[in-house]
Amino acid sequence: MVAAPTASSAYPRDPTLVHYPHPALRQRAVEVADFDDPLRAFCRAMFGVMDAEKGVGLAAPQVAVSRRIFVTDHAKRKGDPDASDRRIFINPRLEDCQGETVHEEGCLSFPGIYAKVKRHDRFTLRYQDEHGREHALRLDVAGGDFLGIVVQHELDHLDGVVFLDHLAPAQFEMVRRRVRDLEDGWRKAGGGKGAVLRR
Ligand code: CO
Repeated sequence: MVAAPTASSAYPRDPTLVHYPHPALRQRAVEVADFDDPLRAFCRAMFGVMDAEKGVGLAAPQVAVSRRIFVTDHAKRKGDPDASDRRIFINPRLEDCQGETVHEEGCLSFPGIYAKVKRHDRFTLRYQDEHGREHALRLDVAGGDFLGIVVQHELDHLDGVVFLDHLAPAQFEMVRRRVRDLEDGWRKAGGGKGAVLRR
């Protein structure tokens, strides 16, 4: 028997980015119930990992923590090194999705791989902050909300979905070799079986 982890003990002190095909990237993350200091310390540590890796978003499964948490800083993309708009999203869900939009995406867990992904154009994101307060954010990607792409990518991670899952077969062929390289690197590092995408 294994005791269920408590919220506090679930958070590593020093979270580390994991790459595909780490199995944590394929698990459905569990809801956050305790809005406590260990949660807030973990969120701060996630920003540290995201900044070090120069990302605009990072989900908890990307540091092998299966909790419904992600952080973003979409303002980083604009080329101004001082621009920042840090946000924390806990237990997020999408509502009232409308339209479609296509953007090129990359993922810190898939270094060197980029692909065009179809997403919702407009939607409402409901989520809790690090104190448990509820928020609703209406986003319009075509209207300029790049954050709308980031949050859909990160929300997928909480359901064990990665951006390459959205590709048509012909698109996947274009990145297949790079995906194989990541699988080979994982095996050579002694990572075991992993959770591979397709064969
Ligand atoms: Co990602």
